[in-house]
Amino acid sequence: MGFTFTFRISWTLMIDQTDLSTRISFRVNGNDVSVASDHPHLLAALRDELNITSAKDGCSPTGQCGCCTIMIDGKAQVSCQYPVAKAEGRSITTLEGVDEAERQSFSDAFAACGGLQCGFCIPGIVMRAKSQIDKKGADLTREEMSRHLGAHLCRCTGYVKILDAIDVVAKGTPVSVALPGGIGSRGAKYEAPELALGDRGYVDDIRVPGMLHAALHLTAHVRADILAIDTADALAAPGVEAIYTADDVPGDIRVGIIYKDWPVFIGVGERTSYAGDVLAIVVARTRREARAAAALIKVIYNPLRPIVDPMQAIT
Ligand code: FES
Ligand code: FES
Repeated sequence: MGFTFTFRISWTLMIDQTDLSTRISFRVNGNDVSVASDHPHLLAALRDELNITSAKDGCSPTGQCGCCTIMIDGKAQVSCQYPVAKAEGRSITTLEGVDEAERQSFSDAFAACGGLQCGFCIPGIVMRAKSQIDKKGADLTREEMSRHLGAHLCRCTGYVKILDAIDVVAKGTPVSVALPGGIGSRGAKYEAPELALGDRGYVDDIRVPGMLHAALHLTAHVRADILAIDTADALAAPGVEAIYTADDVPGDIRVGIIYKDWPVFIGVGERTSYAGDVLAIVVARTRREARAAAALIKVIYNPLRPIVDPMQAIT
């Protein structure tokens, strides 16, 4: 999921068109802060301006995955659906600002219960669990918590072990966190505590001075012949450093772990086969500039009827 920042193309851009010079002030983890008002949502202000990265960006601004969940005035909220202006005067808590003993109990519980694999979804789930435990303590039932997990998508652990871990924290059940003692022995997952608390960085959490940002232009049709790709307007857009298409990739353009059958780009004269096919990648000084420019790329398609039968797809 670490590369998904490039996957959210510019049709998702939601710029607050009010007063771009206004600063929005609020408290984060007990500190007074102010941010630019033109972030597309609160998550972007936290991650891109304040460098608070425990809240992950899995799908912004669609509010589907729950990875960006934080607490606003004590209530769990998905921050990618929260307008920056609405944060004025509010008190925000992210996992960085949670009391150390509480952080420890969550990280121990998730590590001991095997409540995570890649860990990308867990910081958001921890914040949701915290808001419920703050409210109900040891009375929080598994059924109640399962309902609240409806706001979260975990694609690799499943929810049973996550619920086990939350139950451990709610009830204060002691757990032992030990790495496996050898082949075949049980033990906590490597880096589980850092993953649970959102402290272990993913690609999207990398911050390097002078870093450029990329945004993809995906196909508008799941199956179509690509007749032309016009990048001129996008190339002239503010902040854009480069645009790449299939024409810029020499040699074999296909990648894959077992079969090399996945084209990194679909070029002019080729055919798309799913909604994630990439037609161009824009590199720009900021994420917002990259996404805005990606939206300016013009493509001429000859749309075809999608193939939805796997047997038909391979014949
Ligand atoms: S990033 Fe906010 S819900 Fe997915
Ligand atoms: S998505 Fe990987 S642990 Fe939940």
